[in-house]
Amino acid sequence: MQVTTLGQFIIERQGDFPYAKGELSRLLRDIGIAAKVVNREVNKAGLVDILGEYGTINIQGERVKKLDVYANEQFIAALSAGGETCAVASEENEGLVHINSIVSKNAKYVVCVDPLDGSSNIDVNVSIGTIFSIYRRTSFTGKVEEMDYLQRGTEQIAAGYVIYGSSTMLVYTTGKDVNGFTLDPSIGEFCLSHPNMKCPQEGTIYSINEGNYVHFPDGVKQFIKYCQVEDGPTSRPYSSRYIGSLVADFHRNLLKGGIFIYPSTLKSPQGKLRLLYECNPLALIIERAGGKASDGSRRILDIQPASLHQRTPLFIGSTNLVNLAEEMMLKYSPLAAH
Ligand code: AHG
Ligand code: MN
Ligand code: MN
Repeated sequence: MQVTTLGQFIIERQGDFPYAKGELSRLLRDIGIAAKVVNREVNKAGLVDILGEYGTINIQGERVKKLDVYANEQFIAALSAGGETCAVASEENEGLVHINSIVSKNAKYVVCVDPLDGSSNIDVNVSIGTIFSIYRRTSFTGKVEEMDYLQRGTEQIAAGYVIYGSSTMLVYTTGKDVNGFTLDPSIGEFCLSHPNMKCPQEGTIYSINEGNYVHFPDGVKQFIKYCQVEDGPTSRPYSSRYIGSLVADFHRNLLKGGIFIYPSTLKSPQGKLRLLYECNPLALIIERAGGKASDGSRRILDIQPASLHQRTPLFIGSTNLVNLAEEMMLKYSPLAAH
């Protein structure tokens, strides 16, 4: 069977963009390179002293694990070496990481990245991931500013994720369809394994950390109750699946159908997940795969960002389940009482 590598696919698809000069192709290639390097360390994590608490606390107030730092360094290094992006906004850095090489300073793309998603699972050998989002810078000259990043998710040029799991996959979209590539370690190449991925309209999986149940909005509580009712014709009760790595929960629901919800909680009144480098990229992917992503009422991709690390509640997955959850949020929200 003819194998199509990520590199070949990117070049083939460059034709989708009539005026492309190859910058985006090279940028996607750079991300693929970093993913292979991080994958190598993830697979060795149990063997070298790269596990465990790195000791510092990142700007999210979370204890940083060494692999977070390593992954962050590798993605920034690969993007710097490639010269196709002029700055990176990363979960691991409070401010923008400017790439000041002669070539990169005039690059037209900016990248947002969650270098390692699911950090709490590093030590227990559970799937983790990387999430990335690519925009065209809006300023034309000079230093990249935060304003270059505060663009709606609809403006993304490309978005994708890597999942370091039983196999390592890279899934991305450039705004048309969604394609998945599985790493073949014997040749060190990502090979097209999931062309034109589609999310089932119906799903029977719900993913949410029910430990926060007490503080969930009433609409979410009602949705969970709905999922748990015995009802043969609608295949309920649904299955509860929650790994604690957004990328892994998202990837399963994208393939099998289902909904992932991280609503507002007492600890995270705006939700825990970050708009720029977790929610927007996955929202672009799920929409191009026929699914839906909202904050419980507003489309994620329409939210106008106000800061690099802003958080948002996230309801993402099969369209029918997201619609149902939104209906319940509307019906049972405090506003509905008036
Ligand atoms: P990160 O490791 O990049 O901080 O992301 C962790 C996120 C996400 O991956 C996961 O879905 C969520 O945190 C789990 O949060 P809870 O442990 O609060 O359920
Ligand atoms: Mn994350
Ligand atoms: Mn992270």
